[in-house]
Amino acid sequence: MKTSVIIAAAGKGERMQMNYNKQYILLSGKPIVAHTIEVFENMDLIYEIILVVGKGEINPVKEDIIYKYNFKKVNKIVEGGKERQYSVYNGLKAVSSDCDMVLVHDGARPFITGSIIEKSIETAKDSGACIVAVRVKDTIKAVNENMEVVHTPDRDSLWAVQTPQAFRYRLLLEAYEKLRIDDMKVTDDAMLIEKLGHTVKIIEGSYENIKITTSEDLILSEGILKKRENIKK
Ligand code: CTP
Ligand code: MG
Repeated sequence: MKTSVIIAAAGKGERMQMNYNKQYILLSGKPIVAHTIEVFENMDLIYEIILVVGKGEINPVKEDIIYKYNFKKVNKIVEGGKERQYSVYNGLKAVSSDCDMVLVHDGARPFITGSIIEKSIETAKDSGACIVAVRVKDTIKAVNENMEVVHTPDRDSLWAVQTPQAFRYRLLLEAYEKLRIDDMKVTDDAMLIEKLGHTVKIIEGSYENIKITTSEDLILSEGILKKRENIKK
């Protein structure tokens, strides 16, 4: 079985408020996206990596990330789009057409582990679609435009969604080709599969699998790295 992974790293990282893409911030001396690629590079289950980057970033990424860290599985580097959904679609069009399974992962989630990836592939083999998520810790309110609470969903049924999201290649391709993504705010790829009426399974991820988004997340990231170093010792 061939499994490809699309790593979406074409955002602008606006909430990080740096003057460059947050994926190139160094953690322990290595760019965030290199940490992310490394996890997939080291897995036998992964056949190829398709990296999606911002406009003008393809050549610098080749030099400073792919060659520098000697990544062998990055088969293609493609340019992303204005919204994440266009970046993922560009990645999907570059995936080897004989692949069976495709994972979509955020470049900004460097703390994903091989065991969670493996479990998501395993689950998607049966169900066609599997996403990684964690139980929400806070109570969540639905609020209207007047800042009034409309509804309090039962916390026990709420999960915060992470990546990777694993899909049968044909199913994800069908979703992207059939649905009008121009008219939709696609916040995760599983949404499209749900729209097709297909079941999406959930597996439990990890609270360490954060999406590095704001500057506080960098502090947390240092902590996670330190904890992992201590475990290794
Ligand atoms: N992403 C992408 N293409 C886009 C937007 C986002 O490939 N047009 C990627 C980001 O690079 C990131 C992941 O999708 O790895 C999750 O997006 P997010 O955390 O929102 O990153 P940014 O869009 O870069 O950050 P911000 O929303 O703060 O600008
Ligand atoms: Mg964004």
